[in-house]
Amino acid sequence: MGIEVHFEVAPTPGLTPDLHSDAASEIEFGDTLTVRAATEWGAIHSLATVAQLAGESHAIKRIHDRPAYPWRGLMIDVARHFIPLPALKRTLDAMSLAKLNVLHLHLTDDQAFRFRSEAHPELASGQAWDAAELKELVAYAADRAIRIVPELDMPGHATSWLAARPEWGAGPAPQPSRRFGVHEACLDPTNPAVLRAVETLLGELADIFPDPFLHFGGDEVNGNWWNAHEGVQRLMRSEGFKTSDVQADFNRKLTSIIRQLGRRPLAWDEALHPALAGDTVIQAWRGTRARDAALAAGFDCVLSAPYYLDLFYPASLHHCFDPGGDLVAAEDRLLADDRTRHVREGLQWMAGFARLPAMPVAPAGEQGQVLGGEACLWSELVDEGCLDSRLWGRLPAIAERFWCGAGAREAGLLERTAAFRRSLARQGIVPEDSETLRRAFPELAPIEPLVEMLEPVKWYRRLLGAAFERRVSGLGESDVARPYDADTPLNRLVDHLPPESLASRRVEADLAAGSDMQPWIEGWRRQRQAVSELAQVDAGLRDASRALGELADILDDGDCSLSGEKIDALAGPFGEYLLPVAHAVASNRR
Ligand code: ACM
Repeated sequence: MGIEVHFEVAPTPGLTPDLHSDAASEIEFGDTLTVRAATEWGAIHSLATVAQLAGESHAIKRIHDRPAYPWRGLMIDVARHFIPLPALKRTLDAMSLAKLNVLHLHLTDDQAFRFRSEAHPELASGQAWDAAELKELVAYAADRAIRIVPELDMPGHATSWLAARPEWGAGPAPQPSRRFGVHEACLDPTNPAVLRAVETLLGELADIFPDPFLHFGGDEVNGNWWNAHEGVQRLMRSEGFKTSDVQADFNRKLTSIIRQLGRRPLAWDEALHPALAGDTVIQAWRGTRARDAALAAGFDCVLSAPYYLDLFYPASLHHCFDPGGDLVAAEDRLLADDRTRHVREGLQWMAGFARLPAMPVAPAGEQGQVLGGEACLWSELVDEGCLDSRLWGRLPAIAERFWCGAGAREAGLLERTAAFRRSLARQGIVPEDSETLRRAFPELAPIEPLVEMLEPVKWYRRLLGAAFERRVSGLGESDVARPYDADTPLNRLVDHLPPESLASRRVEADLAAGSDMQPWIEGWRRQRQAVSELAQVDAGLRDASRALGELADILDDGDCSLSGEKIDALAGPFGEYLLPVAHAVASNRR
């Protein structure tokens, strides 16, 4: 059955949304559905609200729908792995339904430069977009009330630039890089040709992207090259600079270029420095304290630290962070959750990580504002094939927080997120994870009771491999080979496994409700047998299978009072897999 929707909105043809676009609407449910909105952006968001309410109580007569935060973003790193335009378009379709309104494209990094500049075509790596393709994407996004913010990451993360233009670097010509982690390659901030090139590149981006913001990156500069570079050393001596001051001086030039282009600068929180231009927006990513440091110093802020989708956290652990709320309480919850126990040292290391400079305190009344939040999907372990599963199991929960702010409810979160996901599948935008897994791994059908209980290990544990232990214990990790680089095929189960096992959550709910557990127990025993009949199984999967079989016996036996060590042994990690259901079984007190 169709519904008739009556819009009262002044159309704004050809325009693109900006930070201050009025996203509010009034939705009235009567014989027809009437939407009143001051802008078409508000009207577009109202449709998402109506879709979310479909099937809910008809007691609602009128909704005043407005976002808590004007910046509700998603960053996708398209450098580590290229994400083709159709995948970005379906991401924009789904973002619009989640009322997310900013797509931030991290266009360049050590491994690739994804912008085919007209002035500097030599920089583009293999797969890259030209101006026409990016303009098409901007228009597609605007039709869905979404802005696109481009980022050129400078002066670090620049190996791809320097592989093409070594003379712009402050060190030896680097080879194109396929490895992950912080690189030494760094632009030479004393070379006028570098600034001319940056001005040209940013100018091209400003012509393509009408958005009021340009992102200049600024994260993770490794000072080694600058410390050995004659020109930089001369600058440091003459100005009494430390390495961070050299970057601040470079940033001052970048922000000046960006303002001359009529745009507002945006950067990762390493840009915080007493000399930073005050209208720069800080994107807080290192722990959560960077937000407060930026605000106290008078900088507007977009919060990203708790919304890194590449860290495989469950939806509720992202959702408990309100961009403008008490981050410490939420961080304590993240640290106390059983499912992050195997990476606790890493999380603690990260929580105390931000080496923030002493900043002058802004006068009363001139503190910065939290503009909102931005989920980040770094793509070392993400390509087009697993993009959807990395985004849509958890992003709807984050989007809800960005829209509702302090008013977001945790009760029913999992159900709402799953319903959103089902609606994406029904509309043919993004398939359900279970469907993708079935298609990608038909041979694993006999062990589905195991597969549905698994999660990938959290935080950077997959990416770091053996270097994880060395990092958290403060030892150097550079001599430990990492298990992945940009050429590693992402075609194993762990690459596609949803970050949160919804089946484990169903087990939790069934245990709490006192339901019959025999169907679960039988499935867990069946998989134990089935694994032993599979031709090829990696060791992690085999160990997880054994543990799940043991959990079946424990649950059947009824004595679930397990020691801490036993729970850890049953929850994993098993290679790159976790079995979070062990915590649910261990808490069963029937
Ligand atoms: C970052 O995650 N390097 C901003």
